[in-house]
Amino acid sequence: MPPVEILPDLFWVGAVDWNARHFHGQSYTIHRGTSYNSYLIRDHQLTLVDTVHAPFTPELIENIRQVADPGTIENVVVNHIENDHSGALPAVMRLAPHARIYCTQKAKDGLLKMYRGDWDFHVVKTGDTLTLGRRTLTFVEAPMLHWPDSMFTYSAGDALLLPNDAFGQHLASTARFEDEVDEAVLMEEAAKYYANILLPFSELVRRKIAEVEAMNLPIRMIAPSHGVVWRTDPGKIVTAYKEWAGARDGGAVGIVYDTMYEATEEMARAVLNGVLKSGATVRFFGRMSQNDHSDLIKDLLSVKALIVGSPTVHRDYLPTMGPFLDEVRNLKPRNKIGAAFGSYGWSGEAVRNLETRLKEAGITLVEEGIKARYRATEEELARCFALGRKIGELVGK
Ligand code: FEO
Repeated sequence: MPPVEILPDLFWVGAVDWNARHFHGQSYTIHRGTSYNSYLIRDHQLTLVDTVHAPFTPELIENIRQVADPGTIENVVVNHIENDHSGALPAVMRLAPHARIYCTQKAKDGLLKMYRGDWDFHVVKTGDTLTLGRRTLTFVEAPMLHWPDSMFTYSAGDALLLPNDAFGQHLASTARFEDEVDEAVLMEEAAKYYANILLPFSELVRRKIAEVEAMNLPIRMIAPSHGVVWRTDPGKIVTAYKEWAGARDGGAVGIVYDTMYEATEEMARAVLNGVLKSGATVRFFGRMSQNDHSDLIKDLLSVKALIVGSPTVHRDYLPTMGPFLDEVRNLKPRNKIGAAFGSYGWSGEAVRNLETRLKEAGITLVEEGIKARYRATEEELARCFALGRKIGELVGK
């Protein structure tokens, strides 16, 4: 993808990764690829903001060349050191060895560990500025959004926020702006991105947005490090982040289960019918084996209650439930209630282990899990129905 001038003398010079289908190892599936966004500011001091994943270094360098001589780069702003944004930094610094690097102290520490470069670091704090000529950049530290080193860069004359990972989406596209892509796809990918990357830091997200709003910086454009640039209504993604950060919890009940010989599925359907009876909104996904766990993580944003089910196999829940439950435990969604159910043959540890995972995630169990030997009796199915109805009523309150 060639450079795109997103503002006068400010260019997207990144790379589109059409083939990526996983992120953060295998933990996050990205069905629509991604992009690594790097921005070049052509001013009295040529300035690069972030780089790209190392395999895309040639594309970055070629894009910079189409705008200016890479050897004349005077400043490199490193908003975040994760490899997908810093991987091409050594190559850039070989071409522009005298460039100054502007970053947080934690970023400097990390870059020295990762690349061991003898570079001219300038550590910045919130409120520090860098005048390039016509433009002045202001830096805002954003620790743990989502790494300790993270920061945002703001260009006052443009009313442009460059927040690196925040407000991004894993979406490969020839489009560079949000009004050029399908809105539903965009918001789905933005939500999945938030859930799989930022959910554990929701309180920090909420506070950082409040902090930036209190600074009264007009923001007309948000250019993240993945996906498209928000130019027509950047407030839309900020509002969505406030909601996802827990200012308003979703009001649905999610039912996630897997089954071996349909006994647990029969229980799941009874739970579903109970939730439906309560009038609450329900998200029923069918068998876990037919789902993608990071898609379901996105749906956690809209659920207040999570009910999980599995039969027992080898003294545990089915392995297909593992990646989802591990992610729920690690992401620690806020203010959720839950319960567990499942069939078994003789030992029946699955329900207890499901409950353990929910508790580790900080989810409050509303009642003891329901176990059914081989196949649920009418009475046990009635208990499943009652469980769904009770949780539905709790969520509806
Ligand atoms: Fe897109 Fe935290 O890297």
